[in-house]
Amino acid sequence: METVLVIGGGGREHAIVRALADDAEVYALSSNRNPGIDALAAGMEIADGTDTDAVVDYAEEIGADAAVVGPESALAAGVADALDDAGVFTFGPTAEAARIETDKAYQREFMAENDIPGTPGFETFDAADAAADYVESIDDDVAVKPAGLTGGKGVRVTGDQVSHAEAAAYVRESGHDEWVIEERLVGEEFTVQAFVADGVVRPTPAVQDHKRAYEGDEGPNTGGMGSYSDAGPTLPFMTEADYLAAVDVLDATVEALPAYTGVLYGQFMLTAEGPKVVEFNARFGDPEAMNVLPVMETPLLDVVTAARDGDTLPEPTFENRATVCKYAVPAGYPTDPESGAEIEVDESTVAAAAEAGGGDALLFYASVDAREDGLFTTTSRSFAVVGVAADIPTAEAIAADALDAAGDGLRVREDVGTEELVQSRVAHMASLRD
Ligand code: AMP
Ligand code: GLY
Repeated sequence: METVLVIGGGGREHAIVRALADDAEVYALSSNRNPGIDALAAGMEIADGTDTDAVVDYAEEIGADAAVVGPESALAAGVADALDDAGVFTFGPTAEAARIETDKAYQREFMAENDIPGTPGFETFDAADAAADYVESIDDDVAVKPAGLTGGKGVRVTGDQVSHAEAAAYVRESGHDEWVIEERLVGEEFTVQAFVADGVVRPTPAVQDHKRAYEGDEGPNTGGMGSYSDAGPTLPFMTEADYLAAVDVLDATVEALPAYTGVLYGQFMLTAEGPKVVEFNARFGDPEAMNVLPVMETPLLDVVTAARDGDTLPEPTFENRATVCKYAVPAGYPTDPESGAEIEVDESTVAAAAEAGGGDALLFYASVDAREDGLFTTTSRSFAVVGVAADIPTAEAIAADALDAAGDGLRVREDVGTEELVQSRVAHMASLRD
């Protein structure tokens, strides 16, 4: 059996470990003891995933044949570079290639230089005052983005969350120097993730994430409160041509980045003129990995080993089933999360939800810490449930039932994947296209 090291300890990494565990001996390295990963892995090292020496030492200790990196922080720290230097193939880009995610100014300039379709209008700045002055000087609505990593929480959009004056004040006060100020895109967001190696792009089904903290898309941006995918590659508010246009963007990006290895994640806004790029990520999405990996029929290990061995990436196939993922997060998340709170997760509720709902239900632990005295929250999302069924409403009902597993002190967005919400997205897109 191949020995594979997975870096990271969130819900995304639990889904990655689950997708590998039948075919490989999986080891994990993460700063928290995720009980779901712990139960599947042959071993687990508690260490910081951005500590390249700790990662290489552990990879050598377990004799890793390959590694898969979950979080962008580890990519930015050069974990893929360090593992590759140590002779451990890593499914994840080098720090230089990961700049497509970790430096938004570079990302936009790269897109413009390479004529990547779907590039929004943008300006880059290396001083906050100049960026803020620019925001005050224009009438059009804009998105203001610090160039560096902010865990999905750094963007403000005028005409949506804030006024121009508030956006300018935010730019001046938030302590970042480098900014991207770009055209506000209006439409419906969706994600397409693709496996990439040797210039070959293998896309997976589209997913819609829900970034805003509260029901009805209110409140601050989060890492993602939940997400859904349909049976097949598209979503109810998009056409096959929209999906293929998004895949064309990923193809054009990889053509301009031939050395890229790993998952390339495209975040798109489906506008009246078609998909535009909100951003790229250099890794699986969290929660989106939990939608796509459970319905992937092709073993994830085959993708990783093909990339390692220089074989053409297999064309992955997917079950024709819908998925709905809902996160339970600590009270106060994302602005003032209550970490260190003891929580209980009733796993039997999840199995019962699947049985009652006529589909499957999965539980993915996220940023929780399993200690001898119990299970505790961190400052990030706690666990997710995923309903898998023939259609989105059935999958949603299963996920909603399974969420009864959440004990006191956790918060959820009940509306993710509901018929009402999905139909409102369909109506929104129809009105924009009119
Ligand atoms: P990002 O960190 O780039 O993923 O941005 C976080 C969120 O901000 C996105 O998921 C969008 O909801 C929103 N956003 C980012 N860029 C834009 C844009 N140009 N127009 C409208 N909304 C945006
Ligand atoms: N779901 C958004 C992200 O993974 O960045």
